[in-house]
Amino acid sequence: MKSYKELPSDAGSNIIGQVTAQVNRVQKRLASVKHTVAIMSGKGGVGKSSLTANLAAALTLKGNTVGVVDADINGPTLAKMMGVRNATLGYTPAGVKPAVTALGTKLISMDLLLAEDDAPVLWNAHTQKDAFTWRSTMEVSALREFIADTEWGSLDYLLLDLPPGTERLPNVVELVPDLGGVVVVTIPSEVSQLIVKKSVTMAKDVLNIPIIGVVENMAFYVCQHCGEEEPLFSAGEALDTAFQQVILGSVPFDPRLARSGDDGTLYLDEYPDAPASKALMQVAEKVQAFLKKSP
Ligand SMILES: Nc1ncnc2c1ncn2[C@@H]1O[C@H](COP(=O)(O)OP(=O)(O)OP(=O)(O)O)[C@@H](O)[C@H]1O
Ligand SMILES: [Mg+2]
Repeated sequence: MKSYKELPSDAGSNIIGQVTAQVNRVQKRLASVKHTVAIMSGKGGVGKSSLTANLAAALTLKGNTVGVVDADINGPTLAKMMGVRNATLGYTPAGVKPAVTALGTKLISMDLLLAEDDAPVLWNAHTQKDAFTWRSTMEVSALREFIADTEWGSLDYLLLDLPPGTERLPNVVELVPDLGGVVVVTIPSEVSQLIVKKSVTMAKDVLNIPIIGVVENMAFYVCQHCGEEEPLFSAGEALDTAFQQVILGSVPFDPRLARSGDDGTLYLDEYPDAPASKALMQVAEKVQAFLKKSP
């Protein structure tokens, strides 16, 4: 299938002109953002969104201005996890005002644009079967608009929470060429490591993007009665050997973290002494340190 760049004629739609204008708007918006970071994992359900929400909160608690793009257009969860599901977006001539959490973190998500809880995102086409062929192009276009049309103001960090799938990163790199780095999330299982290694290769070797490091999520379970640490998965290789990357932290499974995500409350504030909170704060510190050193 040809991309819009290869079309001999655009039937008068000026598609290249439209995309170029959007790309220029993205560049202008990102001029006031110091660092952009993508949170990714080839694997689904390993905790990318939970990590993004908590990393954003941790960086905000450390005195930074932080924005988040929920780049999961079809399965957006961050408005709920960050407690702003009922926010109404404001529109000004300069752009859309993002939702702002109680802590001051900014968020834009497809979820904030859908009227009903159970409404799926449907792309406009004669039939949904036709829409399938355009889905990825339209998703990238929606993402480009999210970044370009949101009035972020000055940000220290803009975090992008990617949907599962290794193929999403090239789209993001096309939109944000000077991506500061990627945080890769995995769980300890061999199945997860197998897929997540492909994301590392995609980022590092194919796209030449700096990898900030790997976060091992649901690394173990701390018994809330005796404090004993129990493994949750039979782990594969040691992570640093498997990925040949810096391990930013091992976040234990904590049912209260899942509860906070469901309730949209601030886990780090509610349970600052929990092992998962300490691990998440450590991840934030390592991300900050990495970006401070990068050009
Ligand atoms: N360390 C943890 N302890 C307890 N629950 C967790 C932890 N990490 C994630 N969860 C829970 O696991 C579920 C999946 O997490 P999350 O939605 O963040 O994964 P994801 O990788 O973003 O998924 P998807 O691939 O669908 O985008 C959520 O209910 C979340 O609250
Ligand atoms: Mg997610």
